[in-house]
This record gives sequence, C-alpha cells and structure tokens, in this order.
Amino acid sequence: MTGTKKGTPVTLSELQAMKQRGEKIACLTCYDATFTRLLEAAGVELFIIGDSLGMVLLGYETTVHVSMDDMVYHAANVARAGRHALRIVDLPHQSYETPAQALANARRLVAEGGADMVKLEGGIGKVAIVENLVRHGIPVCGHIGLLPQSVEKPEDYRVQGRDEASARAIMEDARALQAAGAAMLVMECIPASLATDITNAVSIPTIGIGAGRGCDGQVLVLYDMLGILSHKPPRFVKDFLRDTGNVPAAVAAYVRAVKEGSYPAAEHEY
Ligand code: KIV
Repeated sequence: MTGTKKGTPVTLSELQAMKQRGEKIACLTCYDATFTRLLEAAGVELFIIGDSLGMVLLGYETTVHVSMDDMVYHAANVARAGRHALRIVDLPHQSYETPAQALANARRLVAEGGADMVKLEGGIGKVAIVENLVRHGIPVCGHIGLLPQSVEKPEDYRVQGRDEASARAIMEDARALQAAGAAMLVMECIPASLATDITNAVSIPTIGIGAGRGCDGQVLVLYDMLGILSHKPPRFVKDFLRDTGNVPAAVAAYVRAVKEGSYPAAEHEY
C-alpha cells in the first residue's frame, strides 16, 4: 500500500512506514475547521497546529505570547472537523518548563484539543521532559534547528547549523530526542545537507521547514504557502496560489510537489 488509508485517521505507524518506503509526507499548519476540511480533501496527511498562530492569526510579532488557552482553542477547532490527518499540537512558550508542567499541559492538549501528538522545541536539554511525556503515553515530536520560541525579535529568525560545531550539536539533539522516545522531528531552517544527514541517522520521520529536499516530509505555514502574508517570505517559502489561482488547487499543487519531490527545489534550500 502507498500513502495513508483514505477516510480513516492517519496513524504514526503509517507515517513511519512512509519513511521506510521513501514516500514523502505532506504536512501544513492548520488552525481552523474550514481549512481542516479543505486541506484533508487535498491530501494533506499531517497537520501542525503550530504556535505560529500567534503571528498569523493573533497579530503578535513572535510566538512567545501564545497561551495554552490559545492552543487548546485552535486545536479543538481542527479536531472537530478532522477526519484524516494526524494532528500535532505545539506546547507553547513556557508551558513545559518542568516534566510535571509539561505533562499536565500535554494532557490538556490531548483531552481538550484532540492532539494526537505534542511538539516541543529544543534538543538535549529537553530529554527529561520528552521521556516523561512518552512514559505517560503521550507521543512527542521534537523541534530542532531554529527555535521560534527563543526568538525575541523578528530579525533573529535565521539559519542554524551552518558551522561544524553547531551542525554537530543539532545532530546530537536529533539523536538524543529519538533516544528519549520522540516519534517525529521537525527541523527548521538548517542546511539541506545537515537535514539529509539527520534524516539518514534517525529511524523516526523528519519533517522539514527550510531544511531542504532530504527530509521525510515537508511543512509550511499555511498562509505562507498561499502567499497571503504581508512580510517578505523567507527563501524556503513557495507561493502555490500564484500559479493556481484558487486555494484548493494551491493546496493540491503543494501536496503533489512534496510527494513528487519537486518542492523544495534547490532555490529553496540553504
Ligand atoms: O508553529 C509552527 O507553525 C511550527 C512550524 C515551524 C511547523 O512549528
């Protein structure tokens, strides 16, 4: 079988099997019910209800102001409409400072927000938290490379892992998260060669955003791939609405491009 089983909820083992078969995973951020239906109809199999909602929906300059209530509200909107895509929900800034706090908040994202998996930013320093969540039955996605919750000003969004020492540190973060029980990794804004090395070094699926073609799947902030944000987009973003002219066709073109490996292209890589 290829892809995921239509009309039924995507499982982590299906995504894991896609990695093993070398089939690309199409992921987008999603924050509401209408886009949930539209994205699923276009074949998106993985959603990140990301704290990027702080900027694209709530008007903040960075993600650090996003609260647990914000995340629960948007995750629940997606969960009510969702029938297929697996839902990863972000633990927001300062909601996972200790293993006990992380567990209480992750349980809330699952119970009230319908999360299938929670995502948290950081590597080796977050091992105890990941281990505790996994021990209590909560699937975890790690987020390495550029960590938006550590960004204080918009100009701090920049590529990570360009020199040997920081590339090695990001590789060690990936290995440590996998060893702690993380079942997936998001890798943000790192050189394509490093992302490919990490993808080959770990057995769990890697989802890239600004991390090049070698990842097991790709994610973009939904409004970025529709080209409807006012800021100048980073190099890795492609506007899929420009050539297609309507939203369902743009999302379908994104899914097709990810699956066939034409997005990201060399021009989108670092
Ligand atoms: O918050 C978000 O949208 C994210 C993306 C990088 C996937 O974490």
